[in-house]
Amino acid sequence: MTIRSKIAGTGSCVPEQVLTNKDLESMIDTSDEWITTRTGIRQRHIAPQGQNNSDLAAEASMAALSMAGVDASELDLIIVGTLTPDMPMPSVACLVQRRLGATNAGAFDVAATCSGFLYSLSIADKFIKEDPSRKILAIGSEVLSRRTNWDDRTTCVLFADGAGAAVVTGSQDESGILSTCLHADGSVWDLLTIRGLGTAYPVDQELLSKGWQYIEMKGKDVFKHAVKALESVAHESMAKAGWSNDDLDLLIAHQANIRILDFLRERLNLPKEKVFINIDKYGNTSAASIPIALDEANRSGKLKKGDNVLLISFGGGFTWAGVTMRW
Ligand code: COA
Repeated sequence: MTIRSKIAGTGSCVPEQVLTNKDLESMIDTSDEWITTRTGIRQRHIAPQGQNNSDLAAEASMAALSMAGVDASELDLIIVGTLTPDMPMPSVACLVQRRLGATNAGAFDVAATCSGFLYSLSIADKFIKEDPSRKILAIGSEVLSRRTNWDDRTTCVLFADGAGAAVVTGSQDESGILSTCLHADGSVWDLLTIRGLGTAYPVDQELLSKGWQYIEMKGKDVFKHAVKALESVAHESMAKAGWSNDDLDLLIAHQANIRILDFLRERLNLPKEKVFINIDKYGNTSAASIPIALDEANRSGKLKKGDNVLLISFGGGFTWAGVTMRW
Protein backbone atom coordinates (compact mmCIF):
# COMPACT_ATOMS: atom_id res chain seq x y z
CA MET A 1 0.00 0.00 0.00
CA THR A 2 1.29 3.52 -0.88
CA ILE A 3 2.26 5.55 2.15
CA ARG A 4 0.86 9.06 1.97
CA SER A 5 0.84 12.09 4.20
CA LYS A 6 -2.36 14.08 4.70
CA ILE A 7 -3.54 17.25 6.36
CA ALA A 8 -5.43 16.26 9.51
CA GLY A 9 -6.22 19.76 10.75
CA THR A 10 -5.89 23.41 9.71
CA GLY A 11 -5.83 26.70 11.60
CA SER A 12 -5.22 30.37 10.92
CA CYS A 13 -4.86 33.66 12.73
CA VAL A 14 -4.80 37.28 11.59
CA PRO A 15 -4.29 40.38 13.76
CA GLU A 16 -7.48 42.14 14.87
CA GLN A 17 -6.64 45.50 13.36
CA VAL A 18 -8.01 46.03 9.84
CA LEU A 19 -6.52 48.60 7.45
CA THR A 20 -8.91 49.39 4.58
CA ASN A 21 -8.14 50.96 1.21
CA LYS A 22 -10.03 54.04 2.47
CA ASP A 23 -7.63 54.22 5.43
CA LEU A 24 -4.70 54.12 2.98
CA GLU A 25 -6.22 57.02 1.01
CA SER A 26 -5.53 59.24 4.01
CA MET A 27 -1.93 57.96 4.36
CA ILE A 28 -0.56 58.00 0.77
CA ASP A 29 -1.44 59.18 -2.75
CA THR A 30 -3.72 56.28 -3.74
CA SER A 31 -7.38 55.40 -4.16
CA ASP A 32 -9.67 52.54 -3.22
CA GLU A 33 -10.53 52.27 -6.92
CA TRP A 34 -6.85 51.88 -8.01
CA ILE A 35 -6.07 49.26 -5.37
CA THR A 36 -9.25 47.26 -5.95
CA THR A 37 -9.03 47.16 -9.75
CA ARG A 38 -5.24 46.60 -9.96
CA THR A 39 -4.91 44.08 -7.11
CA GLY A 40 -8.33 42.89 -5.85
CA ILE A 41 -7.38 43.90 -2.29
CA ARG A 42 -10.01 45.76 -0.24
CA GLN A 43 -8.52 45.46 3.24
CA ARG A 44 -5.69 43.79 5.14
CA HIS A 45 -4.84 42.93 8.77
CA ILE A 46 -1.91 44.64 10.50
CA ALA A 47 -0.21 43.45 13.72
CA PRO A 48 0.31 46.10 16.40
CA GLN A 49 3.75 46.50 18.02
CA GLY A 50 4.08 43.72 20.58
CA GLN A 51 2.31 41.14 18.44
CA ASN A 52 4.92 39.10 16.61
CA ASN A 53 5.20 36.43 13.96
CA SER A 54 5.46 33.62 16.54
CA ASP A 55 2.29 34.86 18.32
CA LEU A 56 0.26 34.54 15.11
CA ALA A 57 1.94 31.23 14.23
CA ALA A 58 1.23 29.75 17.69
CA GLU A 59 -2.47 30.78 17.56
CA ALA A 60 -2.88 29.25 14.10
CA SER A 61 -1.09 26.10 15.26
CA MET A 62 -3.34 25.66 18.33
CA ALA A 63 -6.41 25.81 16.08
CA ALA A 64 -4.89 23.25 13.69
CA LEU A 65 -3.90 20.89 16.54
CA SER A 66 -7.36 21.15 18.06
CA MET A 67 -9.03 20.28 14.73
CA ALA A 68 -6.66 17.33 14.22
CA GLY A 69 -7.15 16.11 17.80
CA VAL A 70 -3.36 16.07 18.22
CA ASP A 71 -1.66 17.13 21.46
CA ALA A 72 1.42 19.37 21.13
CA SER A 73 3.46 16.75 22.99
CA GLU A 74 2.82 14.30 20.11
CA LEU A 75 4.50 16.56 17.52
CA ASP A 76 7.75 15.31 15.96
CA LEU A 77 8.57 18.39 13.91
CA ILE A 78 7.57 22.05 13.52
CA ILE A 79 8.44 23.76 10.21
CA VAL A 80 7.72 27.46 9.66
CA GLY A 81 7.89 29.12 6.25
CA THR A 82 8.59 32.81 6.80
CA LEU A 83 10.60 35.81 5.63
CA THR A 84 9.73 37.95 8.67
CA PRO A 85 10.94 36.05 11.76
CA ASP A 86 10.64 37.67 15.21
CA MET A 87 14.46 37.80 15.22
CA PRO A 88 17.36 36.16 13.31
CA MET A 89 17.92 33.71 16.18
CA PRO A 90 16.08 31.68 17.42
CA SER A 91 13.82 30.57 14.59
CA VAL A 92 10.07 31.23 14.70
CA ALA A 93 9.67 27.44 14.82
CA CYS A 94 11.57 27.27 18.14
CA LEU A 95 9.44 30.07 19.61
CA VAL A 96 6.29 28.23 18.52
CA GLN A 97 7.66 25.00 19.99
CA ARG A 98 8.09 26.78 23.32
CA ARG A 99 4.62 28.35 23.22
CA LEU A 100 2.95 25.04 22.40
CA GLY A 101 5.00 23.02 24.86
CA ALA A 102 5.90 20.68 22.00
CA THR A 103 8.81 19.21 23.93
CA ASN A 104 9.31 16.21 21.62
CA ALA A 105 9.51 18.20 18.39
CA GLY A 106 12.45 19.36 16.29
CA ALA A 107 11.90 22.85 14.90
CA PHE A 108 13.27 24.97 12.06
CA ASP A 109 12.32 27.77 9.66
CA VAL A 110 12.29 27.60 5.88
CA ALA A 111 13.33 30.70 3.92
CA ALA A 112 11.40 30.35 0.69
CA THR A 113 9.40 33.62 0.79
CA CYS A 114 5.82 33.24 -0.49
CA SER A 115 6.48 29.55 -1.24
CA GLY A 116 7.50 28.95 2.38
CA PHE A 117 4.37 27.01 3.31
CA LEU A 118 4.49 24.72 0.27
CA TYR A 119 8.19 24.10 0.79
CA SER A 120 7.42 23.27 4.47
CA LEU A 121 4.52 21.00 3.50
CA SER A 122 6.76 19.20 0.97
CA ILE A 123 9.41 18.59 3.66
CA ALA A 124 6.71 17.34 6.05
CA ASP A 125 5.48 14.98 3.31
CA LYS A 126 8.94 13.40 3.00
CA PHE A 127 9.31 12.93 6.79
CA ILE A 128 5.88 11.28 7.00
CA LYS A 129 6.67 8.97 4.09
CA GLU A 130 9.75 7.85 6.02
CA ASP A 131 7.66 7.16 9.13
CA PRO A 132 3.85 7.52 8.83
CA SER A 133 3.42 7.54 12.62
CA ARG A 134 4.99 11.04 12.74
CA LYS A 135 2.97 14.18 13.41
CA ILE A 136 4.25 17.42 11.92
CA LEU A 137 3.15 21.06 12.01
CA ALA A 138 3.69 22.94 8.72
CA ILE A 139 3.18 26.67 9.15
CA GLY A 140 3.31 29.83 7.02
CA SER A 141 3.49 33.02 9.08
CA GLU A 142 4.38 36.66 8.38
CA VAL A 143 4.43 40.14 9.85
CA LEU A 144 5.22 41.87 6.56
CA SER A 145 3.93 45.23 7.82
CA ARG A 146 7.24 45.69 9.69
CA ARG A 147 9.20 45.23 6.45
CA THR A 148 6.90 47.53 4.45
CA ASN A 149 7.85 51.07 3.48
CA TRP A 150 4.64 52.93 4.32
CA ASP A 151 5.75 55.83 2.07
CA ASP A 152 6.03 53.57 -0.99
CA ARG A 153 2.57 53.35 -2.55
CA THR A 154 3.69 50.70 -5.04
CA THR A 155 4.22 48.12 -2.28
CA CYS A 156 2.52 49.23 0.95
CA VAL A 157 -0.98 48.65 -0.42
CA LEU A 158 -0.14 45.00 -1.11
CA PHE A 159 1.52 43.32 1.87
CA ALA A 160 0.00 42.32 5.24
CA ASP A 161 0.16 40.05 8.28
CA GLY A 162 -1.22 36.63 9.24
CA ALA A 163 -0.49 32.96 9.83
CA GLY A 164 -1.83 29.59 8.77
CA ALA A 165 -0.94 26.09 9.97
CA ALA A 166 -1.57 22.47 9.03
CA VAL A 167 -1.09 19.28 11.05
CA VAL A 168 0.39 16.66 8.73
CA THR A 169 0.03 12.95 9.62
CA GLY A 170 0.12 9.58 7.89
CA SER A 171 -2.97 8.83 5.81
CA GLN A 172 -5.05 5.73 6.58
CA ASP A 173 -7.04 5.86 3.33
CA GLU A 174 -6.92 7.22 -0.24
CA SER A 175 -6.61 10.85 0.89
CA GLY A 176 -3.33 12.72 1.05
CA ILE A 177 -0.53 14.44 -0.85
CA LEU A 178 -0.01 13.04 -4.37
CA SER A 179 2.75 15.25 -5.77
CA THR A 180 5.11 18.05 -4.77
CA CYS A 181 7.17 20.31 -7.09
CA LEU A 182 9.72 22.85 -5.84
CA HIS A 183 11.50 25.40 -8.05
CA ALA A 184 13.79 28.41 -7.69
CA ASP A 185 15.64 30.96 -9.83
CA GLY A 186 18.10 33.15 -7.94
CA SER A 187 19.33 34.91 -11.09
CA VAL A 188 16.64 37.59 -10.80
CA TRP A 189 16.69 37.92 -7.00
CA ASP A 190 16.73 41.73 -7.13
CA LEU A 191 13.26 42.01 -8.67
CA LEU A 192 11.76 41.31 -5.24
CA THR A 193 13.99 41.78 -2.21
CA ILE A 194 14.67 43.14 1.26
CA ARG A 195 18.37 44.04 0.83
CA GLY A 196 19.15 45.08 4.38
CA LEU A 197 19.18 43.42 7.82
CA GLY A 198 21.22 40.43 6.64
CA THR A 199 25.01 40.11 6.48
CA ALA A 200 25.39 41.85 3.10
CA TYR A 201 25.05 45.41 4.37
CA PRO A 202 25.82 46.93 7.76
CA VAL A 203 22.84 48.39 9.59
CA ASP A 204 23.83 52.04 9.44
CA GLN A 205 22.34 55.41 8.61
CA GLU A 206 23.01 54.89 4.89
CA LEU A 207 21.04 51.63 4.83
CA LEU A 208 18.14 53.21 6.71
CA SER A 209 18.10 56.32 4.49
CA LYS A 210 18.00 54.10 1.37
CA GLY A 211 15.06 52.18 2.85
CA TRP A 212 16.86 48.86 2.39
CA GLN A 213 15.20 47.47 5.51
CA TYR A 214 11.97 47.35 3.47
CA ILE A 215 10.48 45.28 0.65
CA GLU A 216 11.46 46.49 -2.84
CA MET A 217 9.60 45.12 -5.83
CA LYS A 218 9.66 45.71 -9.59
CA GLY A 219 5.96 44.86 -9.79
CA LYS A 220 5.50 44.58 -13.55
CA ASP A 221 8.51 42.25 -13.97
CA VAL A 222 7.46 40.12 -11.00
CA PHE A 223 3.95 39.87 -12.45
CA LYS A 224 5.29 38.49 -15.76
CA HIS A 225 7.47 35.88 -14.03
CA ALA A 226 4.66 34.95 -11.60
CA VAL A 227 2.00 34.14 -14.19
CA LYS A 228 4.43 32.05 -16.26
CA ALA A 229 5.81 30.10 -13.29
CA LEU A 230 2.40 29.51 -11.67
CA GLU A 231 0.83 28.19 -14.86
CA SER A 232 3.81 25.96 -15.50
CA VAL A 233 3.96 24.49 -11.97
CA ALA A 234 0.17 23.93 -12.02
CA HIS A 235 0.52 21.76 -15.14
CA GLU A 236 3.62 20.00 -13.78
CA SER A 237 1.96 19.20 -10.42
CA MET A 238 -1.25 17.91 -12.02
CA ALA A 239 0.69 15.80 -14.55
CA LYS A 240 2.68 14.21 -11.69
CA ALA A 241 -0.62 13.38 -9.94
CA GLY A 242 -2.05 11.96 -13.18
CA TRP A 243 -4.78 14.62 -13.37
CA SER A 244 -6.17 16.62 -16.27
CA ASN A 245 -7.62 20.11 -15.67
CA ASP A 246 -11.10 18.57 -15.42
CA ASP A 247 -10.04 16.45 -12.42
CA LEU A 248 -9.35 19.53 -10.33
CA ASP A 249 -11.97 20.47 -7.69
CA LEU A 250 -10.24 23.45 -6.07
CA LEU A 251 -7.23 25.64 -6.91
CA ILE A 252 -5.68 27.50 -3.99
CA ALA A 253 -3.00 29.81 -5.40
CA HIS A 254 -0.85 32.36 -3.58
CA GLN A 255 -3.02 35.45 -3.11
CA ALA A 256 -0.79 38.15 -4.67
CA ASN A 257 -3.05 39.79 -7.23
CA ILE A 258 -6.61 39.08 -8.43
CA ARG A 259 -5.40 39.57 -12.02
CA ILE A 260 -2.94 36.69 -11.57
CA LEU A 261 -5.77 34.50 -10.20
CA ASP A 262 -8.04 35.47 -13.14
CA PHE A 263 -5.22 34.66 -15.59
CA LEU A 264 -4.77 31.21 -14.02
CA ARG A 265 -8.52 30.53 -14.09
CA GLU A 266 -8.60 31.29 -17.82
CA ARG A 267 -5.42 29.37 -18.71
CA LEU A 268 -6.47 26.30 -16.72
CA ASN A 269 -10.01 26.62 -18.06
CA LEU A 270 -11.60 26.51 -14.59
CA PRO A 271 -15.03 27.80 -13.55
CA LYS A 272 -15.01 30.63 -10.99
CA GLU A 273 -16.11 28.43 -8.09
CA LYS A 274 -12.99 26.24 -8.45
CA VAL A 275 -10.58 29.10 -7.78
CA PHE A 276 -10.36 30.11 -4.12
CA ILE A 277 -10.13 33.87 -3.54
CA ASN A 278 -9.70 35.76 -0.27
CA ILE A 279 -7.15 38.40 -1.32
CA ASP A 280 -9.90 41.03 -0.90
CA LYS A 281 -9.86 40.44 2.89
CA TYR A 282 -6.18 39.79 3.63
CA GLY A 283 -3.94 41.22 0.89
CA ASN A 284 -0.65 39.45 0.19
CA THR A 285 0.49 37.65 3.35
CA SER A 286 3.38 35.83 1.60
CA ALA A 287 4.02 32.40 3.20
CA ALA A 288 0.77 32.69 5.21
CA SER A 289 -1.44 33.23 2.19
CA ILE A 290 -1.99 29.59 1.14
CA PRO A 291 -2.47 28.09 4.66
CA ILE A 292 -4.93 30.88 5.58
CA ALA A 293 -6.87 30.16 2.38
CA LEU A 294 -6.70 26.40 3.03
CA ASP A 295 -8.08 26.87 6.54
CA GLU A 296 -10.90 29.12 5.29
CA ALA A 297 -11.80 26.66 2.54
CA ASN A 298 -11.71 23.80 5.05
CA ARG A 299 -13.77 25.49 7.78
CA SER A 300 -16.35 26.89 5.36
CA GLY A 301 -17.07 23.39 4.01
CA LYS A 302 -15.70 24.23 0.55
CA LEU A 303 -13.39 21.22 0.78
CA LYS A 304 -15.14 17.85 0.66
CA LYS A 305 -13.62 14.44 1.32
CA GLY A 306 -12.17 13.08 -1.92
CA ASP A 307 -11.77 16.54 -3.55
CA ASN A 308 -8.70 17.03 -5.75
CA VAL A 309 -6.91 20.16 -4.52
CA LEU A 310 -4.00 22.00 -6.16
CA LEU A 311 -1.87 24.47 -4.16
CA ILE A 312 0.56 26.74 -6.07
CA SER A 313 2.82 29.55 -4.94
CA PHE A 314 5.31 32.10 -6.28
CA GLY A 315 7.55 34.59 -4.48
CA GLY A 316 10.86 36.39 -4.08
CA GLY A 317 14.01 34.46 -4.81
CA PHE A 318 12.36 33.57 -7.09
CA THR A 319 10.75 30.46 -5.63
CA TRP A 320 7.68 28.65 -6.88
CA ALA A 321 6.01 25.40 -5.89
CA GLY A 322 3.02 23.13 -6.39
CA VAL A 323 1.35 20.46 -4.25
CA THR A 324 -1.56 18.22 -5.25
CA MET A 325 -3.63 16.36 -2.68
CA ARG A 326 -6.79 14.33 -2.40
CA TRP A 327 -8.73 15.82 0.53
N1 COA B 1 -2.06 53.96 -6.01
C1 COA B 1 -2.20 54.68 -7.12
N2 COA B 1 -1.36 54.62 -8.17
C2 COA B 1 -0.35 53.75 -8.08
C3 COA B 1 -0.13 52.96 -6.95
C4 COA B 1 -1.04 53.08 -5.89
N3 COA B 1 -0.93 52.36 -4.76
N4 COA B 1 0.95 52.19 -7.16
C5 COA B 1 1.42 52.49 -8.38
N5 COA B 1 0.63 53.44 -8.93
C6 COA B 1 0.76 54.07 -10.25
C7 COA B 1 2.17 53.99 -10.76
O1 COA B 1 2.94 55.06 -10.27
C8 COA B 1 1.95 54.07 -12.25
O2 COA B 1 1.76 55.41 -12.60
P1 COA B 1 2.37 56.01 -13.98
O3 COA B 1 1.72 55.20 -15.05
O4 COA B 1 1.96 57.43 -13.93
O5 COA B 1 3.84 55.76 -13.86
C9 COA B 1 0.63 53.34 -12.45
O6 COA B 1 -0.02 53.34 -11.18
C10 COA B 1 0.79 51.92 -12.94
O7 COA B 1 1.75 51.30 -12.11
P2 COA B 1 2.26 49.85 -12.41
O8 COA B 1 3.36 49.48 -11.47
O9 COA B 1 2.52 49.74 -13.88
O10 COA B 1 0.97 49.03 -12.02
P3 COA B 1 0.67 47.53 -12.30
O11 COA B 1 -0.55 47.42 -13.12
O12 COA B 1 1.88 46.76 -12.73
O13 COA B 1 0.28 47.02 -10.84
C11 COA B 1 1.22 45.74 -9.01
C12 COA B 1 1.25 47.04 -9.81
C13 COA B 1 2.31 45.76 -7.98
C14 COA B 1 -0.13 45.60 -8.36
C15 COA B 1 1.44 44.56 -9.99
O14 COA B 1 2.57 44.82 -10.80
C16 COA B 1 1.66 43.23 -9.30
O15 COA B 1 0.76 42.68 -8.73
N6 COA B 1 2.85 42.63 -9.44
C17 COA B 1 3.12 41.28 -9.03
C18 COA B 1 3.10 41.07 -7.54
C19 COA B 1 3.31 39.61 -7.29
O16 COA B 1 2.94 38.74 -8.03
N7 COA B 1 3.97 39.26 -6.27
C20 COA B 1 4.20 37.82 -6.10
C21 COA B 1 5.23 37.58 -5.19
S1 COA B 1 4.82 38.24 -3.63
